[in-house]
Amino acid sequence: MKKKGLIVGAGGISWFAWKLLIVVFLTLTIVLCMLAFLSLQRFPPSHSQNPSSVSRRFLHPNWDSISFRGDPKVAFLFLARRNLPLDFLWKSFFENADADKISIYIHSEPGFVFNESTTRSSFFHDRQLNNSIKVAWGEASMIEAERLLLEQALKDPANRRFVLLSESCVPLYNFSYIYNYLRASPRSFVDSFLDKKECRYNPNMSPYIPMSKWRKGSQWITLIRRHAEVVADDDVVFPVFKMFCKRSHNCIPDEHYVQTLLAMHDSEGELERRTITYTEWNQSATNMDKSSWHPVTFSYEDAGAEQIKRIKDIDNVYYETEYRTEWCHNNSTQVPCFLFARKFSRGAAMRLLSEGVISQFDASAIMDPTQ
Ligand SMILES: *[C@@H]1O[C@H](CO)[C@@H](O)[C@H](O)[C@H]1NC(C)=O
Ligand SMILES: *[C@@H]1O[C@H](CO)[C@@H](O)[C@H](O)[C@H]1NC(C)=O
Ligand SMILES: *[C@@H]1O[C@H](CO)[C@@H](O)[C@H](O)[C@H]1NC(C)=O
Ligand SMILES: *[C@@H]1O[C@H](CO)[C@@H](O)[C@H](O)[C@H]1NC(C)=O
Ligand SMILES: *[C@@H]1O[C@H](CO)[C@@H](O)[C@H](O)[C@H]1NC(C)=O
Ligand SMILES: *[C@@H]1O[C@H](CO)[C@@H](O)[C@H](O)[C@H]1NC(C)=O
Repeated sequence: MKKKGLIVGAGGISWFAWKLLIVVFLTLTIVLCMLAFLSLQRFPPSHSQNPSSVSRRFLHPNWDSISFRGDPKVAFLFLARRNLPLDFLWKSFFENADADKISIYIHSEPGFVFNESTTRSSFFHDRQLNNSIKVAWGEASMIEAERLLLEQALKDPANRRFVLLSESCVPLYNFSYIYNYLRASPRSFVDSFLDKKECRYNPNMSPYIPMSKWRKGSQWITLIRRHAEVVADDDVVFPVFKMFCKRSHNCIPDEHYVQTLLAMHDSEGELERRTITYTEWNQSATNMDKSSWHPVTFSYEDAGAEQIKRIKDIDNVYYETEYRTEWCHNNSTQVPCFLFARKFSRGAAMRLLSEGVISQFDASAIMDPTQ
């Protein structure tokens, strides 16, 4: 009896609910029709965007197919010892960029502050990691700093490419050229090759890092978001490097870590296996002893139009240990290999600026005595 009463009661409620639903539905329909009519009045069909251009504004399938609002950004990650001596050049570069498409992060010595006293460019104010660490060359602290930069930059979902730069790096092109170049490839740019000749691999690593996955390559990488996540989230390979890849073992972590980690993740098919940052090596040291090669620092005299053109004209890189030639292309057209170069002195960077390599010549920037 009790049960039946309940059922009747429930039936009564559901009949009332149906009536309410129908009223709400009709009201909504009328309101929506009125809104649609009003919006048509404000935006006549002839001026409205076609559906494909609307979706292109919010979905960026070529930037790793995750949707987010706004423009995809390139994150510029500066790994600095202290200040950024070439800030005047980067200032000009960023001034000529679309502010919505860039983000800047700096890892510098703990305690060093980028403010009006230490940089002339406000682009670098408040862009510093507040959890930076003391970095020693050839130690795992270098790759830890890289990981901190990536971790911070990953917090912004609009960052789709992550370019690691040193304080002595310069751009060789304007921002729009670099942006389009990076956008055209769904891959990371990671110089990575078999390290046959040197014995930096420490056999103690073998339970964790098989020798077949050991790679070498330039520290100056550009990652897609997925690979940036792999590096920032890695808690397997990094501790092994920290323990076994040390300067005292003639092992330089930053020349192996990302390359080896991505090989272990079977991600090499997702790489352009080359760097986009040019480094000139001093080959005057004897050929036998390549370990003593060191990067040349470009001075004012070395940074003339002729020399810069020579770097820009390079369209392939040969990897001796693999007999592999990497042809540099962008969506199947031949392109220059290098977008950035190092190491540049202030004088060399001023010459780039004055010769209009990265933007229109701005005399005031170079004449400013406070620079
Ligand atoms: C910049 O930061 C340093 C260190 O915190 C501080 O000593 C200096 O006064 C600051 N300069 C300006 C102009 O804020
Ligand atoms: C560091 O910055 C983050 C935001 O980027 C903030 O949440 C955090 O509190 C800061 N930490 C310190 C110690 O200032
Ligand atoms: C950027 O550089 C490219 C090639 O060097 C040039 O074609 C283009 O006009 C430049 N764009 C701007 C905005 O300066
Ligand atoms: C690379 O390809 C993209 C798309 O195909 C194009 O927009 C861009 O201009 C190209 N960049 C260079 C440097 O050729
Ligand atoms: C690359 O080229 C193909 C065909 O030419 C085109 O469909 C594709 O959209 C291009 N990719 C980018 C990133 O522009
Ligand atoms: C190359 O190295 C040699 C010896 O270390 C040095 O004398 C020379 O100046 C260097 N050349 C350049 C271009 O840096």
